[in-house]
Amino acid sequence: MLETNFAGIKMRNPTVLASGILGTGSDLMQRVVEEGGAGAVTMKSIGPEERMGHANPSVIEWEHGMLNAVGLPSPGYENMEEEWEGLSKRNYPLIASIYGASIEEFVLVAKNVAKKKPEAIEINISCPNTKEHGQIFGVNEDASIEVVSAVKKEIGDISLIAKLTPQAYNIAAIAAACEKAGANAICAINTVAGMVIDIDARRPVLFNRFGGVSGPAIKPVGIKCVYQIFDAVKIPILGMGGISNGRDAIEFIQAGATTVGIGSGVLYSGFDVFKKVCNEMENWMKANKVESLEEIRGVAHG
Ligand SMILES: Cc1cc2nc3c(=O)[nH]c(=O)nc-3n(C[C@H](O)[C@H](O)[C@H](O)COP(=O)(O)O)c2cc1C
Repeated sequence: MLETNFAGIKMRNPTVLASGILGTGSDLMQRVVEEGGAGAVTMKSIGPEERMGHANPSVIEWEHGMLNAVGLPSPGYENMEEEWEGLSKRNYPLIASIYGASIEEFVLVAKNVAKKKPEAIEINISCPNTKEHGQIFGVNEDASIEVVSAVKKEIGDISLIAKLTPQAYNIAAIAAACEKAGANAICAINTVAGMVIDIDARRPVLFNRFGGVSGPAIKPVGIKCVYQIFDAVKIPILGMGGISNGRDAIEFIQAGATTVGIGSGVLYSGFDVFKKVCNEMENWMKANKVESLEEIRGVAHG
């Protein structure tokens, strides 16, 4: 009932572990599939060199979601042999996420990660381009086209997923630009920039002051972005932002998503959230006489 084909990847169900939630190690990836029931997993974004990330507090929970400024900590693509060795024995679809501060860095990481043959490579273009004075790649159509086509050239047959930021003025135009440049799928959304102040301490709560909002607070933002992207592209969409139950997942599918990512929901509810979401999706489908997700994909467009 829930089997899904996503950009050429066969999945037993449409749930995907979002990037950055459980690191890059094979043990946790295996557990989230076996015990948790995820249909596919995304690794934490891998960068060109080792990076420590921001000082603590870097992740906090507030009334309606989470706020994080982990700062893309990464072991660097050259220091991951042990992880890749473990991951090479996997029997589930693996999405490797990469980032860079320039096109050259994206290409370098993509070339090396592609040698490990993940089922897909997700490019996190929600990070700033240092050559463009810190402007985020994914808010600019030309920069998005440049990075997608350069990475696609390196990775050949491996599916390329472009992960977009809701901070783009016109996310549908960015998605269309990525499709034109050779992306095989779109992932939306990454976190939304935000800040929380502790009024008693009279200071921002995060050490980095600003961070990315995720969880229930951003679900309407994710739904709106997926809805607009669905109208603009033919390639499939991995929708995410605040999914924690079956109804949230069905809502994303009705907006136009083919697969659904869960990030903060894992931190709130544990690995089991994937099984729970799948069971609730199936129950909703049975109650509504829906036999396949195909029947309801994008139906909210009328
Ligand atoms: C602690 C934390 C770390 C994250 N790290 C990454 C990352 O390395 N790469 C990335 O593309 N997205 C990262 N994200 C964003 C998530 O993959 C996801 O797009 C976002 O949190 C929205 O989904 P959610 O509401 O289900 O968490 C991170 C999110 C959180 C909460």
